[in-house]
This record gives sequence, structure tokens and C-alpha cells, in this order.
Amino acid sequence: TATAAEAAHERGHGIGSAHAKAILFGEHAVVYGAPAIAVPLHQLEVETRIRSTPGHELRIESELFAGTASSAPERLRPVITAVRAALAAVGRPDDQVQLRVRSAIPHGRGLGSSAAVAAAVARAAADLTGAELGADAFHEIVQQAERVAHGNPSGIDARAVAAAGPIRFHEGRVCATGVGAPLTFVLADSGRPGSTAEAVAGVRERRAADPVAMDRALAQLSELAEGSVLDLELGDRPALGARMLQAHELLGRIGVSTVRLDALVDAARAAGAHGAKLTGGGLGGCVLALADSEQQAEHIALALRAAGARRTWTTTVAAS
Ligand code: MEV
Repeated sequence: TATAAEAAHERGHGIGSAHAKAILFGEHAVVYGAPAIAVPLHQLEVETRIRSTPGHELRIESELFAGTASSAPERLRPVITAVRAALAAVGRPDDQVQLRVRSAIPHGRGLGSSAAVAAAVARAAADLTGAELGADAFHEIVQQAERVAHGNPSGIDARAVAAAGPIRFHEGRVCATGVGAPLTFVLADSGRPGSTAEAVAGVRERRAADPVAMDRALAQLSELAEGSVLDLELGDRPALGARMLQAHELLGRIGVSTVRLDALVDAARAAGAHGAKLTGGGLGGCVLALADSEQQAEHIALALRAAGARRTWTTTVAAS
């Protein structure tokens, strides 16, 4: 709006934020058209600020890097893409800006860090200019950055980091999922990064080599995701937990789990979790465990740290 644009002009900068996500069901299978379910992780946020700096090359300032676009490491290419795409979408393709990124989302942990940064950049560009970005224009900016980061993204991360609650994503379309009872999850960082691009490429290779076994596992992952919608609506924690354990086993079969992730899943189970599984691309990254209550979640988090998790976060998805 005019007033938002005026306010941003007064300040000389625009700000934006977005949160991390965890995939509950359907990662990897979603790349082949299966449905998938994601939940927001509101406590892991990224904040960006875009300031107009006419006459200067794009400058980036983040925890890991401060410098110009041309001196930026490879890992910042998606961020640079997001800035360019966002400025083009708000009708200011030639603007010269400075970007500041403050992120609490660990990178390379399957939590949607790259998509969240791009979403926050798009929001900051809209704030700076007062432009209204429609959902599709916004999604396209994030997807452009995700293509640079991951090659062939399904689009679920781009939707999940922008959604306030749990979503079901299928063939590019997204809808909110009902949740019948509060669900408390413990997220454990294995301490090892996992590259989504590598994980997705590995699944593609193994599928080419052994299509029958791989397609069977991917179809089962798809069924687990589809069937989970009713369990979520009913708030049926034991049923969801059982599905999570089956999904983890299948993700192992398609080659994206690791000994460390398996050990964390076992530790969560031993501590009484209804279920646990790797989340996101795998090959490192995080394990998500479903607790029965917030109190039990504390116990599971301790067990996960004792089993080698570097950090844990507890998040409750409210009933809707
Ligand atoms: C990454 O969060 C989820 C994957 O299914 C990749 C994608 O959907 O693009 C592994």
C-alpha cells in the first residue's frame, strides 16, 4: 500500500521474515508427484533487511559472509537469485541494494533454510517498495532460488516456509491440514549436514538402476503421507507415530538414511516417542520425533542429546 511504501521509504529499508519447516511425510516421494505433509517451525526464524544503495554492487551481510555479490561464495548463489527475482517481481529490477540476513535456521539440515531466506527476501523487497506480491508471484521467487539451491525442487519447501500451519502439498497445490489434537515434536540435529541436491540425485540414480524396488518404496511413502491426513485430523498420535517409523524404514530403503540418523530414531523410540523419522532430504540433517506430551518431549530431547544429537528443539503444532 502507499502508506507501507512511504514508511519503508522513510526508514530507507524493507524488512521480511520467514520460518523453518519440517516434512512430516512424503519427502523424496513428493519429487515424483506424491502428496507430502509439512509442519511450520515458528521458533526457527530468518530475518532479512533490504536497503537501497544506489551506485553500489549488491552487498550481502550475514553471519557467514559480508561482501559483494561478485565475491560471495557459491553457497550464496540462491540468495543472490532471490534478491534479483524479488526486485524484478516488485518492478524494480535495476535497483541496487544491500541485503542483511540474520538466521536462526541451521543450514543443510533439511529444515528449509534456503527457501526461508528466499521467502524473507521476497517479503523485504515487497516491504521496501510497498508492492503487493500475490501468492503465486511470491512462490515463483522462492522457487527460482530453490532451483539454484537444489536443482529440481518439488516446491513443498517454498510453500511450507510461507504457511502458518501444517500443509498438505500435492502436485504443486497446497492446502491447510486439520489437526485434531496438539502434536508435540522433538527435532534433533544430527550435527551432520546433508545436501538435498545430492540426496535427490542419489534417489534418481538408484531409481534408474532398480525401478521396481525403488518405485515400490516411493509408492509406500506416498500411501503413508496420504493416509496420515485422517490421522492428523483425528489427532491420533499412536497412528501417526507408527507411520513415522514405517516412513523412516522406507527412507532408509531408498538410500537417504545414515547410521547416525537410525541411531537417533532408535533413541527416540526407546525414550517413549510414538514414532520418529528423518526429515527432509536426509544423508544427515535432522530427525523428527512425536512425543505424547510436552513433558515427555523433554525426556525424549534429553535422550536424543545423550545419543549424540547436537541440538534439539521442541515444537507443538496446535489443534485446529
Ligand atoms: C526437501 O525438504 C524435500 C525433498 O522431497 C526435496 C523436494 O521436495 O524438493 C527431499
